[in-house]
Amino acid sequence: MDNIQKLREETNPVFNTAKATLLQLAEAGHADAALMAARLGLDLAGVTYSDEGKKAMSRSNVATLELRYRSMNAFIEATGAKTVVDLPCGYTPRALEGFIAYKRYIACDLPAVTDEMGPLVEKILAERGQKRKVAYRGVDATNYASLRAALEGVEGPLCITTEGLLMYLTEPELAALMDNIRRILDEFGGVWITQDPEVSRVYISMTMVVMNDSAKAKAAVEALGRSANMSEVLKAMAGDKAQSALNATKSTFSGEADVTFGNVMLVRGTPEQFAAAKEALRAHGLKAELSPVAERMPRLGSLDPERTELARQAMEHINLWTITPDGAGSDPAVRTGGEFGVETAVNGSELTVTLRGRVDSLTAPEFLAAFEKVAGENTLTAATVDMSGLEYISSAGLRVLLIMTKRLGAGSVTVTGANELVRSIFEQTGYDDILTIR
Ligand SMILES: C[S@@+](CC[C@H](N)C(=O)[O-])C[C@H]1O[C@@H](n2cnc3c(N)ncnc32)[C@H](O)[C@@H]1O
Repeated sequence: MDNIQKLREETNPVFNTAKATLLQLAEAGHADAALMAARLGLDLAGVTYSDEGKKAMSRSNVATLELRYRSMNAFIEATGAKTVVDLPCGYTPRALEGFIAYKRYIACDLPAVTDEMGPLVEKILAERGQKRKVAYRGVDATNYASLRAALEGVEGPLCITTEGLLMYLTEPELAALMDNIRRILDEFGGVWITQDPEVSRVYISMTMVVMNDSAKAKAAVEALGRSANMSEVLKAMAGDKAQSALNATKSTFSGEADVTFGNVMLVRGTPEQFAAAKEALRAHGLKAELSPVAERMPRLGSLDPERTELARQAMEHINLWTITPDGAGSDPAVRTGGEFGVETAVNGSELTVTLRGRVDSLTAPEFLAAFEKVAGENTLTAATVDMSGLEYISSAGLRVLLIMTKRLGAGSVTVTGANELVRSIFEQTGYDDILTIR
């Protein structure tokens, strides 16, 4: 791994989660996914377990991701949008899908992913003699300037697809994403589609469909129709095993990266959760229309016809969210994000770091590199990070502060001059317990 990829991985390892989708699509029999996994040197054995319990869990994960990926393709096609903005694209083989040949496809993800995927997809298309309007662009979804740059020269209306992102975002990152998408849809027109708000409902119901015997799976789907609350449905079906099934769902997301998830857009099923998610969208000038995923139920390679039908019935109770500006006329929040800068100065064993602009997944590797350089050349015992010129910090930046704290010792990192937004990010993420904030 070259140094920049290593720094990217240290500051935001979340991109590793996306490799699981590719492997699971390959496992479901998707030929291009298998080809791409092989080209990327990923090992299929990673998803095929010897242990029976894990094997069953892996079967339901494969079916869940196949369902999500293939149904998203069908929903994207149905929007009729000229341009698809896949945010985040991860390692999926969408660029190679038949329907993409008739569209412009802008695949956006962290540079750690797009730097690898762009050349690979270009190569496969060239080998096949196919010319497509496909571009891979490194972005941070919370960074408006990076998204806008990715769309330079693009024609609307857009279909922005979000598949496997919302669960990784903290509340401030989610707020930034919603503001950014609102601004982009205001400019280009189009829609933002996602199944992410109901991701745990999809996982849990697919687990019930795939892992139980037919009679129990049927009963589970019926229970899903009766009760919106997934915890209740799961408990009724799985009893004591409910908690371990839920934990397995959770580790599916966090297994490859040290992420925690939970924000207002993730609904397990109560009416209050749906209302809170819609209110959060409204606060950012957006509104959502919900349509059952069953409306575009794809054929699945990973399930037999009986289970596919049960999965379809379950998907009558789980929705694709189509999100658009609410037309209420509120001005979209503008987060300009000045140019990033990092400077270091050492006085004895004390380091001062001065940050400017935004620290996010795009710039955090530079922040970490600057720290590692001085830490390698000096014996440091404490650091002060001057944030008076800093506009925003994302979890990738927080991770650098954590790395600094681990290296220099508990209580050794002091932050000064943080603005109100940055202070609230420290409070919401518990970093106010790790750092000394002045
Ligand atoms: C679970 S994957 C989903 C990717 C793909 N849609 C799929 O279904 O496999 C999560 C993706 O989100 C990307 N990601 C996480 N935070 C991001 C951010 N702030 N901006 C852009 N992409 C981000 C990761 O790099 C990773 O590729």
